[in-house]
Amino acid sequence: MEIVIVADPEAVATVAADAIQRLVTDLPTPVLGLATGSSPLGTYRALIERHRSGGLSFAHCRAFLLDEYVGLPAGHPEAYRTFIERELTDQIDLPPDALAGPDGRPENLATAPARYEQRIAESGGIDLQLLGIGSDGHIGFNEPTSSLGSRTRLKTLTDATRTDNARFFGGDADAVPRHVLTQGIGTILEAGHLVLLATGSSKAEPVARAVEGPLTAMVPASALQLHPHATVIVDEAAAGRLTNAGYYREAFANKPAWQHI
Ligand code: F6R
Repeated sequence: MEIVIVADPEAVATVAADAIQRLVTDLPTPVLGLATGSSPLGTYRALIERHRSGGLSFAHCRAFLLDEYVGLPAGHPEAYRTFIERELTDQIDLPPDALAGPDGRPENLATAPARYEQRIAESGGIDLQLLGIGSDGHIGFNEPTSSLGSRTRLKTLTDATRTDNARFFGGDADAVPRHVLTQGIGTILEAGHLVLLATGSSKAEPVARAVEGPLTAMVPASALQLHPHATVIVDEAAAGRLTNAGYYREAFANKPAWQHI
């Protein structure tokens, strides 16, 4: 795992956007894995800016969401499909039918997980998966005790996650759906490159547990330790609890110019 410590959230966004830009430029049919929530917003703003002023095109890309709430009506502002359309895909040239997310309609729950896995497989697999980390260590909505081999499935959110996400629902944790569909940890681990973004001191503890703690289902993000190409990009505040921060800084600063994240 490579740990990249940069000054602030803007620098986190720049490093992540650079990695996505390289992939989108180099591959004939890139497949992007998109996270929602606040962590990737700076990265999305940087990509939109590069599309508008630098001509970066996503017309040849496909994109898959990590997760979706169950039971929010189509078009609900906090449904993750609506969120990603608003924050990214409506502002770039990704074809609308190139975006897929888990189908969170209650009547489809029995078949939606397998269909989503199949769509990802048919795309040839996700090349780069963006991830945030929950205060309880989750990735996607794989809450603590999620199997490290899990596939896309229905999960129940912890009270901690519903409280964290209340800010998107007018501050009301009870308005946050209790159930979600999420790519499993096993699904996420099949992406070619995992890029986890974290900013702010509230992420310092889960980042340290994921990066330097033991591999454990109690900290789902620790599963990144199993991946051959995982990059954790953090600002100084989110790096605050890392024991080996000096080593990570030195390793990144001395990277040869040709060696990208
Ligand atoms: C979002 C997702 C979640 C978030 C995590 C952090 O699609 O899967 O794992 O990445 O809850 O959320 P923020 O970035 O809002 O702190």
